[in-house]
Amino acid sequence: VEVFPSKAEATRKLAAETAELIRSNDAAGKKTVLGLATGSTPIAFYQELIRLHKEEGLSFANVISFNLDEYAGLPKEHKESYWYFMHQNLFDHIDIKPENINLPSGTVAEADIPAHCAEYEQKIKDAGGIDLQILGIGRTGHIGFNEPGSPKNSLTRAIELDPITREDAAPAFDGLENVPTAAITMGCGTILAARRIVLMAWGKNKAPIVNEAVTGPVNDIVSASYLQEHDNAVFYIDEEASTEL
Ligand code: GLP
Repeated sequence: VEVFPSKAEATRKLAAETAELIRSNDAAGKKTVLGLATGSTPIAFYQELIRLHKEEGLSFANVISFNLDEYAGLPKEHKESYWYFMHQNLFDHIDIKPENINLPSGTVAEADIPAHCAEYEQKIKDAGGIDLQILGIGRTGHIGFNEPGSPKNSLTRAIELDPITREDAAPAFDGLENVPTAAITMGCGTILAARRIVLMAWGKNKAPIVNEAVTGPVNDIVSASYLQEHDNAVFYIDEEASTEL
């Protein structure tokens, strides 16, 4: 765990680290594969990446991105879809190539979901695996949408959202009744296969779940606890999120 005086300092460090990874891969003629997350937590990180692109010439032309998850039933144009979120908050402001952007689809027919998920896993493999996976953490301890009960070796799949997760999303959807009941998410196994993982958490609301994930038992009740067993995973948190450690 690395505790920073503020979210701004944490995200500056993470963005600098990401830029260095991209630049060293560029110099070696290699692509950089980023695993990206949504939610309010990574927004400051994305803003810093955009600043590095605009002010310091950081190019994303050789970056391939894979997002963690997408709500089931939401078309790309829906303002709460993760596709929309990623374009608004990052992709529209950098030079990443559209063909290098990958998110699970929220609108595949139910019968086609298993094939869609298998194809997503294959695309990650074909890209050479994820170099750096960015994560937030939900109140249930989920990473991506790996709700309690998600096995350590789980892969990309459809998942029913926990009532707590839906409750947290209700304001953004103008009411619980509008929150999707399911999502497609990378599995815990997909996430843990990344070569480096950084989980960000800010504010005192995250303090109890950060403590459980970091110091609690490793089990499927808190999927973020699996990160304890990864040899290159770190939590970047601010002081408020560290108060229960
Ligand atoms: C959603 C996302 C997670 C995210 C979590 C926390 O459930 N699927 O990836 O970590 O929200 O959201 P926030 O960052 O807004 O607290």
